Amino acid sequence: MPKLNENYKNLKESYLFSEIAHRVDAYTKANPDKKVIRLGIGDVTLPLGSHVIEGLHEGVNAMASSETFKGYGPEQGYAFLREAISDYYKRNGICVDASDIFVSDGAKSDTGNITDIFGNDNVILMPDPVYPVYVDTNIMCGRNVTYIAGNADNHFLPMPDPDVHADLIYICSPNNPTGAAYNKEQLKEWVDYALANEAVILYDSAYEAFISDPELPRSIYAIEGAKKCAIEFCSLSKTAGFTGTRCGYTVVPKELVFKASDGSELSLHAMWNRRQTTKFNGTSYIIQKGAAAAFSAEGMAQCQENIRYYKENAKIIASVFDEKGIRYFGGINSPYIWFECPNGMDSWEFFDCMLNTIQVVGTPGAGFGENGKNFFRLTAFGNRENTIEAMERFKAAF
Ligand code: MLT
Repeated sequence: MPKLNENYKNLKESYLFSEIAHRVDAYTKANPDKKVIRLGIGDVTLPLGSHVIEGLHEGVNAMASSETFKGYGPEQGYAFLREAISDYYKRNGICVDASDIFVSDGAKSDTGNITDIFGNDNVILMPDPVYPVYVDTNIMCGRNVTYIAGNADNHFLPMPDPDVHADLIYICSPNNPTGAAYNKEQLKEWVDYALANEAVILYDSAYEAFISDPELPRSIYAIEGAKKCAIEFCSLSKTAGFTGTRCGYTVVPKELVFKASDGSELSLHAMWNRRQTTKFNGTSYIIQKGAAAAFSAEGMAQCQENIRYYKENAKIIASVFDEKGIRYFGGINSPYIWFECPNGMDSWEFFDCMLNTIQVVGTPGAGFGENGKNFFRLTAFGNRENTIEAMERFKAAF
């Protein structure tokens, strides 16, 4: 009989968004006449830009001829895409070497897979509330997590405690789920703390393209010293509408070198390269052609048009909370609006109430941690008509 990874017994029965989908399916089966509006999972609704579509077509056409056909590609991603990503960083004023970029099928996989290159006895610091993938993938390896509280008092932007040591630090900014974004000074504090503790920051910048405030950093590498202490994950899911198309990337700077227990030096870049070449055969050529088109100046202008549309949705949602005097966070440099559940309800109670009374699906804050239990997340990724209708229903009911 096999010995099983019993750490799985320590996980919640199902992943947050699977649990929500299950409850919504049950409701729609029981109430087929009701129009349910989904503002729960952060899934985009606008089609891919025409520039990306052209890139994808080019990729498909290349596959149709023996002169241009592609078999296995480089596990790290094609040079044309790594260069295009590096160039995108450069246009945002940040220097990232193309050879430090690893292309993948998305930030969710990479933030989970990165656990492979770290040992089990690290002190792992995470904010609460937090994207559940970081927590669950560590539980799967039998690791303990130390939480730092995000709350209304610190605007859901917890800061390091110099008296508490950490080896690994998870940061997501702009944040999922709260929509809060660290400024340069705050991120500098985290970088200084990581350097002082010889810790590694695992920085998720999946929502960087939603930042319009020029004072807010769009990458951890906008902070001096970060290349010595941070890995950055990013994704085209929200930037370019690739939730279904799948493409992301992880930056592992060659400067990240740490001592092994026998005193030898280990490079995180080399370890991640070893991990990826062993366990991953790369993202498909066709998808990488589409991704490279998204990172061109013209492609990114189309992506920004879609982002403006979603941010307008965020304004529509936030204006109802303003009108109702409901306290909320995010929605400015982020597609998420994080608000206090009305009438003192807890977040699952409010989830059921929203579904049953106004047929609007959101995400209960408790799914992101203990500190989310009285908060609720709505996404701005719906279409305009549904967003307006959802908020009209909300306004009438609460
Ligand atoms: C979310 O809704 O939190 C995200 O869409 C999940 C993800 O990006 O995996």
